[in-house]
Amino acid sequence: MMYYNYLFTWNTTTKLVINFACACAILANFWYDYYNQEQTEVIFFHGNQSQCDFHRNKTTLLNYLNSECPMCNVYKIIGWLNETKKTLDICMYSLNSELLTNAIIDAHKRGVHVRIIVDEDNIRSTWKFGTMGIAKRVKLMQFNAKMLMHHKFIIIDNKKVILGSMNWTVNAVRRNWENVFLTNKYQIVDPFRHEFKTIWKQFDQ
Ligand SMILES: *[C@@H]1O[C@H](CO)[C@@H](O)[C@H](O)[C@H]1NC(C)=O
Ligand SMILES: *[C@@H]1O[C@H](CO)[C@@H](O)[C@H](O)[C@H]1NC(C)=O
Ligand SMILES: *[C@@H]1O[C@H](CO)[C@@H](O)[C@H](O)[C@H]1NC(C)=O
Ligand SMILES: *[C@@H]1O[C@H](CO)[C@@H](O)[C@H](O)[C@H]1NC(C)=O
Ligand SMILES: [Zn+2]
Repeated sequence: MMYYNYLFTWNTTTKLVINFACACAILANFWYDYYNQEQTEVIFFHGNQSQCDFHRNKTTLLNYLNSECPMCNVYKIIGWLNETKKTLDICMYSLNSELLTNAIIDAHKRGVHVRIIVDEDNIRSTWKFGTMGIAKRVKLMQFNAKMLMHHKFIIIDNKKVILGSMNWTVNAVRRNWENVFLTNKYQIVDPFRHEFKTIWKQFDQ
């Protein structure tokens, strides 16, 4: 009883201050949740799938909502790459899908700092990057001819990582069963950042 009396005797200013503080706390909480939102997305390619109507008819209209269409799935990945703001660290055994390559080049042209690690096996498919000033490191045959630099991961802005079975090749996209996923979970992204750093140094010949 005493407590309530005490509350009701608070003056208007005090109540306003308390309300304002509460509103701020709620807003801060919202912001925190928004910026620390977990993002995970999974994509599957199922062998020789047929494309959706949009992509079959080669209309340019972008629609990457049909998860059964391999082109929709590729555009979804391109969408992730398009959102890159600062850095794109790519470690990929094989990379010759034109659409994905173009998305990487677009990022470079937007001013994103792109670094690529590839295996010498596939060096020919990445000649394009070398001529436009994208930083590239190669795992050379002479380093170890039998052991492949077989990774397939891409780190976006040091915050998200794209992983999966897919070589970023035309064949992988058109004909294979593959999985690709994106996550921003710190416990996963951080080890990949360290690994990239290590390999980048290792292939500095
Ligand atoms: C893929 O499927 C299409 C029809 O859906 C068929 O015409 C084509 O020959 C198939 N390609 C392969 C490599 O199996
Ligand atoms: C795509 O082409 C087929 C015929 O080849 C047609 O039936 C279909 O309506 C077209 N779809 C779109 C979205 O234009
Ligand atoms: C990605 O960016 C390029 C170049 O800005 C644009 O042409 C393309 O439509 C974008 N694609 C997606 C899927 O966001
Ligand atoms: C993917 O890379 C492996 C080597 O690890 C190679 O044997 C395979 O042919 C490649 N697949 C495609 C679809 O390019
Ligand atoms: Zn489609």
